[in-house]
Amino acid sequence: MQNLKHAVSGLHGSLRGPSDKSITHRALILGALAQGITEIKSPLTSADITSTMNALRPLGVNFIQRDDTILVDSPGMQNFKRPQNLVLDMGNSGTSTRLLAGVFAGLNLPVTFIGDASLSTRPMQRIITPLSALGAKFKSNDGHLPLTMIHGINAQPINFALPIGSAQVKNAVLLAGLVARVTTTITDKFKTRDHTEQMLPDFGIQLVHTGMTFKITGNQILRPSKIEVPADISAAAFWMVAGTIVPNSVINLEKVNINKTRAGIIDVLTRMNAHIELQKLTAAEPMANVKVITELGLKATTIESIEVPTLIDELPIIALAATQAKGQTIISGAEELAVKETNRITAVTTELQKLGADISATPDGFIINGPSKLSVKRATLLNGHGDHRIAMMLSVAALITEGDVTLVDPDSVGISYPTFFKDLEHLMH
Ligand code: S3P
Repeated sequence: MQNLKHAVSGLHGSLRGPSDKSITHRALILGALAQGITEIKSPLTSADITSTMNALRPLGVNFIQRDDTILVDSPGMQNFKRPQNLVLDMGNSGTSTRLLAGVFAGLNLPVTFIGDASLSTRPMQRIITPLSALGAKFKSNDGHLPLTMIHGINAQPINFALPIGSAQVKNAVLLAGLVARVTTTITDKFKTRDHTEQMLPDFGIQLVHTGMTFKITGNQILRPSKIEVPADISAAAFWMVAGTIVPNSVINLEKVNINKTRAGIIDVLTRMNAHIELQKLTAAEPMANVKVITELGLKATTIESIEVPTLIDELPIIALAATQAKGQTIISGAEELAVKETNRITAVTTELQKLGADISATPDGFIINGPSKLSVKRATLLNGHGDHRIAMMLSVAALITEGDVTLVDPDSVGISYPTFFKDLEHLMH
């Protein structure tokens, strides 16, 4: 239980938020595939990242923590250990499970994935179907964990058109092909996050891009690399919205990743009239220092399917921003939200309604009328539904809520942002 605070005198200060979760997962996995030592500077340290490292250790991969760097010391995928009857506990992490299912399918190394209650309800058929079409064989609990891969892929070459806007599905197939060393061509008409594609050349892998398709020729071997991980825009998003809706705030967010496949929230908040300034920095992954100043004249907006992959994880906090915007915000094409760590469509709607927001759920998003003054008449329990992004969104909502609100499950923030409440304290002082 955590009593949530109201912000009486605005949020102020600078911070470099947690490092990017998606990039850290990928750097650890690609580093493990390469023989030698890969250096990852400023990786995220969180429960989901621990799940990825724990799953790679039985293959003979060592992780050495040195200050703000993780050294991935690996025998390389050609020399991985091949333990029998491997059971991997993936905790809460969908990304670890789906990406590593691809790795194990490429290695043709039988494995069983298990996870926590939330992960055990999340759909795995989306990776079972394409990997099975490539010759892999799985046993699952009706498309859910426990998921056993009985044998890996054998098809070549691989030609895959992404059927849904999921970077995790894209990466499952990409990694299977890379590890099996088969020529792999992937078409991503949804323009899902492209961190793996951006990072592969640093690991010595050549990609050929043609429009929405990219091709990785077979028989390439990864070499170790040095990767610096920028701050996660999905974490910075909470402060972008907090800085916008909490009166008298000025927040500087340092070194935020603004890769265009991830930065939809900046476009959305800008169209809503938020005051966001970007100071672009030169780096391998596009980065910027982001300054946010309170803007109480927010306008409603419309978000449709085309934009959804660029802001999928930010929709809960965008929904909160929309409760403070004048007019009707309609978010559609986001049915994927229903199969995240919790059903985020119902969780966001139920919890924000408790605070007096005018929000209703649709099968693929939300309809929000604003602005609403958020308040509770009597002490109210808010439920993060065990989902880190819902817990953080509600903690930001509380900053502008009148009345006594308590979050029943604050610990979930450890999935992606273990220092969230510490950073909030910093901005309140
Ligand atoms: C992720 C992709 C997204 C996102 C998740 C991380 C990744 O999921 O929601 O938090 O690192 O590839 P989908 O690709 O399933 O939409």
